[in-house]
Amino acid sequence: MIGARWICVLVAGLACCGRALAQDAPAGAASRGELLYSVNCLACHGAQMHWREKKLAVDWASLLVQVNRWQSFAKLGWSQDDVAEVARYLNRRYYHYPDAPAAD
Ligand code: HEC
Repeated sequence: MIGARWICVLVAGLACCGRALAQDAPAGAASRGELLYSVNCLACHGAQMHWREKKLAVDWASLLVQVNRWQSFAKLGWSQDDVAEVARYLNRRYYHYPDAPAAD
């Protein structure tokens, strides 16, 4: 279990170069979706957000909507590809909705 303090340090550290890092992720490292998410989204919510009872993301389509909603809220200007990458990462890690596109 990583402490909250470590997550803060990690997020703060990645924030400065997050974009470059996410784009140049070497093969075998964390996926682009995971990097985008940990740099831009983890500051506000941890894992419990994605398995709470009254989920907003109830299938692949609504997961996409939520990821898009949050990147837009944070004014990140993500492309549809970025949104899909992050949604795929969240689906792989937490949601496991069967109607998602095949994993990369
Ligand atoms: C300002 C804080 C904040 C940031 C930044 C943020 N979120 Fe959230 N997120 C929330 C809160 C609060 C909720 C619960 C919203 C609700 O219940 O209406 C939420 C809910 C969600 C959900 C729906 C969870 C569920 O299944 O109910 C998804 C998916 C999500 N966020 C993805 C993201 C992504 C992707 C990013 C980065 C682009 C992001 N969030 C950035 C605060 C944040």
